Amino acid sequence: MIIHEHFSLKNYNTFGIDAKAQYFVEVNSVEALREILGNNDYLRKIIIGGGSNMLLTNDIDALFIHVNLKGKWLINESDDTVSIKVMAGENWHEMVLWTLENGYGGLENMSLIPGNTGTAPIQNIGAYGVELKDTFESCDAIRIIDQQPITFTKTECKFGYRDSFFKNEGKDNYVITSVTFSLTKNKHTINSGYGAIEDQLKKDSILNPTIKDISNAVIAIRQSKLPDPKELGNSGSFFKNPIVQKEVFETFIANHPDAPFYKVSDISYKIPAGWLVEQCGFKGKRYGDAGVHKKQALVLVNYGNATGSDILNLAARIMKEVQATFNITISPEVNLIK
Ligand code: EPU
Repeated sequence: MIIHEHFSLKNYNTFGIDAKAQYFVEVNSVEALREILGNNDYLRKIIIGGGSNMLLTNDIDALFIHVNLKGKWLINESDDTVSIKVMAGENWHEMVLWTLENGYGGLENMSLIPGNTGTAPIQNIGAYGVELKDTFESCDAIRIIDQQPITFTKTECKFGYRDSFFKNEGKDNYVITSVTFSLTKNKHTINSGYGAIEDQLKKDSILNPTIKDISNAVIAIRQSKLPDPKELGNSGSFFKNPIVQKEVFETFIANHPDAPFYKVSDISYKIPAGWLVEQCGFKGKRYGDAGVHKKQALVLVNYGNATGSDILNLAARIMKEVQATFNITISPEVNLIK
């Protein structure tokens, strides 16, 4: 294992922020991961996967451990389903394409989400009506304090909207090393109900979509709305869609009858943060090299040389304006590394 010093993380975070890690190491095996986690010379350790859901706010005095564990296997099979185990360092989208090439269904609505498989459970990634938890079976992790391997069941992961055990009680205590999914071999569930997917299928004249058709539709939608991190630094949705209580929602919708919303339960509603940010006039705005994407106001972008604090200042300005205009609090979805 080579420990690099004063290492630029520019190529390791999709925002493309040129922050430096005091130390950086790449691990290619679970054994190497356990060894470095057990090394007490480094007081602060930060795990980095695909770097697609983090904002590095400045240079960080810590050891960054890049989890580069590779491999994916079929571990179980019945007439209708398969269990596949995927190592944490596998790129999410390439893994999704691999499942589709093998005819396995379940992940197609989550095509083209940036990042690696091992970080997907942390925020229970989701898109177009499907969340990771819908096909998740279990995950293996290493407990940082004693480097012991532990398997987490779906229940133990406590998945919620962009949320899990690993973001709360388990925060900073585990490194996920692999994820096991339960996928369909036949009798696939086609989730085409999401408006944007329906529109795309209609455009392509597809009446009875296959899982591959759904994936292609999702790829087309994402490419039309969301910037490719290779071309324009970003971290996907920067903010979470706020969930508000019924009373707050009723006042809000009375004042803004055209606003989009989703009913979450009898007492709570989700309001798209992208709509709130757009209404405040930020869509497409650029301040130096930090900006708000022109096609999706939920996404903050780095036009080249924005620093983490440039992005953070823009986020603070947006949150303040949304609060002042709508009396609704929005908060970051991305992990702020300080
Ligand atoms: N909207 C606007 N202006 C905008 C953006 C959105 O008015 O600039 C409105 C849209 O017109 C629509 C509503 O907001 O009525 C919802 O927009 P969209 O369907 O594009 O989805 P979203 O709520 O903005 C969420 C996820 C995305 C995911 C999409 C599709 C969160 C925080 N984001 O976005 O996830 O791809 O749904 O399922 O839940 C990500 O997490 O990085 C991500 C991209």
